Amino acid sequence: MVEAIRLPSFDERERALARAGYNLFNLFSEEVYIDLLTDSGTSAMSDRQWAGLMLGDEAYAGSRNFQHFESTVRELTGYPHIVPAHQGRAAEHLLLSTLARSGDIVPNNMHFDTTRAHVQHVGARPVDLAIDEAYDPESEHPFKGNVDTRRLVELLDGPSGAHVPLVMVTITNNTGGGQPVSLANLREVARICRERGKPLYLDMCRWAENAYFIREREPGQDRRSVREIGREIFELSDGATMSAKKDGLVNIGGFVATRDAGIAARLKEALILFEGFPTYGGLARRDLEAISIGLAEATDERYLAHRIGQVRFLAGLLSGHGVPILRPPGGHGVYLDVRRFLPHLGADQLPGQALAVELYREGAVRSVEIGAIMFGDDPSPAARSMELVRLAIPRRVYTESHLRYVADTIQRVWDRRSTIRGLRMVEAPEHLRHFTARFAPEPT
Ligand code: F0G
Repeated sequence: MVEAIRLPSFDERERALARAGYNLFNLFSEEVYIDLLTDSGTSAMSDRQWAGLMLGDEAYAGSRNFQHFESTVRELTGYPHIVPAHQGRAAEHLLLSTLARSGDIVPNNMHFDTTRAHVQHVGARPVDLAIDEAYDPESEHPFKGNVDTRRLVELLDGPSGAHVPLVMVTITNNTGGGQPVSLANLREVARICRERGKPLYLDMCRWAENAYFIREREPGQDRRSVREIGREIFELSDGATMSAKKDGLVNIGGFVATRDAGIAARLKEALILFEGFPTYGGLARRDLEAISIGLAEATDERYLAHRIGQVRFLAGLLSGHGVPILRPPGGHGVYLDVRRFLPHLGADQLPGQALAVELYREGAVRSVEIGAIMFGDDPSPAARSMELVRLAIPRRVYTESHLRYVADTIQRVWDRRSTIRGLRMVEAPEHLRHFTARFAPEPT
C-alpha cells in the first residue's frame, strides 16, 4: 500500500502540539510526516496478504481461515493449542486472568506496559529481572534482553516463590530497547522453571527478530535458519502470547498458545466471554488469513536482513553525528538516550516527552517516550534508570531517504539541545497514562 504524506508547516505543527496537549498520541495522522510512534500494526501488508484477505470464509464457527492460521502457528511454534485474540493485550488478558491472581508475583525480563498493566489488573505484582547490562544504555552486550538467572533463582527459591504462577520472557525486550534474549539464556531459564515446576510463557511479539539476532550473534547458530532457531525457542517454553501486529506483519491480530490442554480449555472459556468464538477470537476470519501469511513472511531472512538493516542504518547516521542512542541498536527501532541528550533537564521536567515533542516540532516526526511517563511511579529498575525516546520503524513502509530525513531532523534538534525546555503534566489517568495524559510547556 502506498500512502501520500505531507509535511505540515511550522505553525501547523505548533498548533497541533497545543491542541494535542503535547501528547503525540493525540495528533491526527495527517499532522505527522514520518510516523515512528510504533512498529505495531503499522506494517505494509504484502501482495499475498492482500490476496489472502479476499479469501475470507466468514463462517462464525469452523472457518477454513482458522484452520490455516492454526496449522501455521502450530508448524512455526510446535504449540498444540492456539487461541486467537484481537491483539497482544487481549492475549495477555486471557493468559494472566487465567493463571495469575491477587497477591501473586509475575517475573519477566522486562514487562511491556500492557503486560505490566494486566499483571496489576489481577492484583499481582510484576517484577523485572533483566541483567544489569540491560539498564546501561552504553553497554554493547549482544543479548541485553537476557534474564538475570541468579535473581530468578533467588525469587523462585525464596519466600515469595510459591506465589509465582508463571515466568514470562519478552522476546525481544521492547522496553529495554528491542534487545534480544540468547538461546543459552532461554535454555537456562527453562531449566530453572522446569526444576521448580513453574510454567514458562514467552511474549513472542518480535520472536523472528530475536531469532535473527541469535543466528547473527550467538556462537554456533549461524548455520541454522530463523525457523529452526524459533522452533528451539518455543520448545523450551510452555506457551506464549503474541501480538501479530509486530512479527505477524498485520494491522490487527494476536493469539495465546499453550501446551497445556487444561489451560487451553480455560483460555477458551474466557475467550468466548471477552473476544469471541475460538475459531475467530475477536477478528474477521480474513484477518486470520493475513496473519497466517504474514507469520511465514516474517521468517524470510532477506526480509529480516533488510528490516534490521534499516534500524542499523538510522542508528549509524545518528551515532555518526554524536547523537546518544541506546547501544547496540535493537530489532525494531532506535532508542535515543535522553539523559545524555538533555542533561540539563531534571527527571521532573519530563525530558523524554520534551524531546519527543521537539522532534515533532522540528520535522513532524512522531516518536514515543519510554521513560518516566510510561512507567509512572513504578519502582522497577527500568523506570528508575533509563529515560528513552523510541523511534520505532514500521515494517516494509519507509525507504532510506525517509530515514535520512529523520536523522537530519534529530541532528538539528541535537545541535540546539541546550535550548530545549521541559514539560509538566497537567492531566493524567491512573493506568497507562502515557496514552492520554496532557502536558504543558514549562514557563520561561
Ligand atoms: N508485548 C510487547 C512486547 C509489546 O511491544 C506490545 C505492544 C504488546 C505486548 C501488546 O500488544 O499492542 O497488540 O496489544 N507494543 C506496541 C508498541 C504497542 O508500540 O511497542 P498489542
